[in-house]
Amino acid sequence: MTSIPIDNVITALLKAGLSAPSADNYHRFSVQYDQASGVSKIRCFTHSREAHYPRRRRLVDWIGYGAAIENMLIEAKRLGLRPKLTLHSDDNGIQTVPTLFAEIELHSGASPSDENLAQAIPRRVTNRKPFLRRPLTAEDKAEILLQIDRPCAHWFSSRETKKQCATLSRLAESERFRSQELHDELYSSLYFDAGADRPYGISIRGLETPRPLEHLFRLFKNVVALKIGRLIGVDSIFGFFAGALPIYWSGEVLVLTTRGDSSLELIRLGQTMERIWLAATTAGVAVQPQIAACLYASEKVEGCSIATQAELNHLWKGLLPLGELPMIMLRMGYAALPRWKSPRPSVDSLLKT
Ligand SMILES: Cc1cc2nc3c(=O)[nH]c(=O)nc-3n(C[C@H](O)[C@H](O)[C@H](O)COP(=O)(O)O)c2cc1C
Repeated sequence: MTSIPIDNVITALLKAGLSAPSADNYHRFSVQYDQASGVSKIRCFTHSREAHYPRRRRLVDWIGYGAAIENMLIEAKRLGLRPKLTLHSDDNGIQTVPTLFAEIELHSGASPSDENLAQAIPRRVTNRKPFLRRPLTAEDKAEILLQIDRPCAHWFSSRETKKQCATLSRLAESERFRSQELHDELYSSLYFDAGADRPYGISIRGLETPRPLEHLFRLFKNVVALKIGRLIGVDSIFGFFAGALPIYWSGEVLVLTTRGDSSLELIRLGQTMERIWLAATTAGVAVQPQIAACLYASEKVEGCSIATQAELNHLWKGLLPLGELPMIMLRMGYAALPRWKSPRPSVDSLLKT
């Protein structure tokens, strides 16, 4: 191990893990620190179980787990450790109890590395502001490309392809106001008390919506108001503002894909996403993930209408190589910093007793 006391090392690693993005800012995993075999190990357990959550929730949680694991690996390398990662599949996980999905063994004797990425961990943020519409510079893009070790990324930079991404995003975000199930899920992750800073969930301030739209957002939490709103096309209005407009207001769109949707593929995708995001942060490039257009295109995902799912699928087929599944869109560009950054719970809340 390093000369730093082990408690401080574990705290630093868990803090890095908790700083990672997760779709609704709930980190549904816990960790156990184990030194029984003479090797220091961090063991991670998923709380996102089939018995409790729909498939779409577990898919996004797996991507978030990948991001958290990658942050812990990067922080370990910064501290001069040699982390060894073992992943365990969580497919068909019908148990209700948390199960092991990752183990990180910590070995000593490496020189510090990944320091730039580690420094970006506390600065990385989801930026939902409008971005400048100019493409990334060649240098910034090259820095980001360095982090992509598998052929799983597609850039959409031209006016025409960005327009198609905007259509995809508009359709999917509208669906969140058409399907009661998706609507309930969206609102369960939001909180509206402007002064509050909660360690879980997303504040309305984080959405960076103009004030009048913020009031509408609050209003349409109510099911009756939503039903009336749908008659005048509220779903399409939100689809435009939350989906299409942000894509128009971006420099480029990066879509990450996989060839399958197993837990292991999604965790690895989350690792790549986090390295890309940290490299973008270092380069001063703003990032906002948009996942709905990817998620709802899958016929295995519940809650989306068959018509929207088929339309999304059809549009993706025109944009991506055959056999690749879209998993997450990252809108990127140059922008002012967001006005709010979501807080995190304490490191202790992660520890499994
Ligand atoms: C798998 C995944 C999907 C996400 N999808 C969206 C999305 O569709 N729209 C969005 O605005 N943010 C999305 N986010 C960003 C999260 O909302 C954000 O990470 C979380 O609220 C914590 O905020 P932070 O990234 O600023 O730390 C996503 C993040 C992850 C990891």
